Amino acid sequence: MDRLRRLRQNKLTRELVRKVDLKSSSFIQPLFVVEGLRDRETIPGLPGVFRETPETLLHQVEADIERGVHKFLLFGVPQEKNESPTNFDFAQNQIQKLKQTFRDKVLLFTDVCLCSYTSHGHCGVIERTPNSYTEEHLHNDKTLELLSKAAVEYAQAGSDGVAPSDMMDGRIADIRGSLDKAGFENTLIMSYAAKFHSRFYGPFRNAADSTPKSHGLKDRSTYQIDPTNPQDAWLSASRDANEGADILMVKPGLPYLDILSKLSQRIEKPWAVYEVSGEYAAIELLAREKLISAPHAHSEVWTSFIRAGASTVISYGARFAKDWIRIWEDSQ
Ligand code: PBG
Repeated sequence: MDRLRRLRQNKLTRELVRKVDLKSSSFIQPLFVVEGLRDRETIPGLPGVFRETPETLLHQVEADIERGVHKFLLFGVPQEKNESPTNFDFAQNQIQKLKQTFRDKVLLFTDVCLCSYTSHGHCGVIERTPNSYTEEHLHNDKTLELLSKAAVEYAQAGSDGVAPSDMMDGRIADIRGSLDKAGFENTLIMSYAAKFHSRFYGPFRNAADSTPKSHGLKDRSTYQIDPTNPQDAWLSASRDANEGADILMVKPGLPYLDILSKLSQRIEKPWAVYEVSGEYAAIELLAREKLISAPHAHSEVWTSFIRAGASTVISYGARFAKDWIRIWEDSQ
């Protein structure tokens, strides 16, 4: 009889034959910083994550560094919104302060998108065609100009990388070209390459103040990838790789594990996975109801990401990853 249970019989044997190594150094912690806030605010669904003020942001990052967390993805949320935003000063100032204070102790990526900046909450500039009978659309190439402007300004402020999450066509080439022209050829691009039109972004949109509110264009289905269309994710990711993305991303994580698994085999680039707000919150809610143990459940899900081919995990629990992984491993 082929006795597979022989290798499962005790902890040391199981440890010896493990294939997937879950380690906290693979994690990136998202940060929200909001202009005009008096005190930092909790985010429904994401305990331990806050809408930070510029002051509390620095304290939080200092505390994170003390716990051994050094990699971050910053979302700047400005107070002023308009139709076609050109002012990225708020995020730029936060980047500058973070990098001046913590220098090479932090690896800082900054999200590049317009949804926290626009009055209508969409990720780009809305094309208003008078007398048109079709739905409103985002103007791809006008949006590119603004995204590239933001990316260069973030790089100037010291951001180590930019992470475009808008899903316009051609943005990686445009941003790469603009960064290089401005002398930032070492600035990393982590592309939200396989970003799906998901219903799991709810808690994030409250945190980033980025819910779409235009009547003409009700959701993000004209620019994010349809959940039923894996081919589109492949085309998007291979194009972004060719346009010069350094790291490719699948987002959300768990519902798109098949995509991560296939694409990471087909495209030999580092792959990141974004465990989005709704996925993270689902586990937290189960834990709050005492139906599950959060450290164990999170670690199990994170293991699935690494097993499926990710080298990087963006998770709201990054700042707890070291402790939770230890708890989980001790109990395995
Ligand atoms: C903005 C953006 C979104 C997320 C990251 N960048 C939301 C969206 O596309 O509406 C989602 C992250 C999360 O839910 O945790 N384009």
